[in-house]
Amino acid sequence: MTKVNRFLATEDDTLALGRTLAPLLEPGMVLHLRGDLGAGKTTLARGILHGLGHKGRVKSPTYTLVEPYQFSRLYLYHFDFYRFLDPEELANSGFREYFNPESVCLVEWPEKAPELPAADLDISMRPDGEGRAIVISAHTEAGRRCLDKLKD
Ligand SMILES: Nc1ncnc2c1ncn2[C@@H]1O[C@H](COP(=O)(O)OP(=O)(O)OP(=O)(O)O)[C@@H](O)[C@H]1O
Ligand SMILES: [Mg+2]
Repeated sequence: MTKVNRFLATEDDTLALGRTLAPLLEPGMVLHLRGDLGAGKTTLARGILHGLGHKGRVKSPTYTLVEPYQFSRLYLYHFDFYRFLDPEELANSGFREYFNPESVCLVEWPEKAPELPAADLDISMRPDGEGRAIVISAHTEAGRRCLDKLKD
């Protein structure tokens, strides 16, 4: 399975999909979250974080670039590159060290950051009526394992 399409009628559906994805993620995975402003990327990230056991608030990393989380099974780094436009600043930020075999990286606005590590899962969201259409594509074996389990 290399692609999964879903319709998410409400915010709760987006959160629920995130919670379902959480236990299927393996350390080392990179997820690119695509879609316009307000598409639901941070909402999906919140669902994933809740599914991993995070109890507190999930801040959008719009201003901080990255929000770090630590779980027993893995580290999770939530990026938002929307405001990050200077490639030199990015290269000097050490952000590449976050992409390592112990961590899962969720990246909003990956298209704004040049030379990001490739995605295991590429997730696109767009408005569809009152809800959201989501397409999840796998680009690696780890990504395909994840989608196979999501399908079951
Ligand atoms: N399936 C859905 N149906 C309807 N509304 C949704 C759905 N999923 C999320 N939303 C709503 O979309 C709004 C924007 O969501 P969110 O902040 O997650 O977007 P985003 O893609 O992260 O935007 P940005 O690019 O600005 O960071 C929120 O009000 C959220 O409740
Ligand atoms: Mg966001």
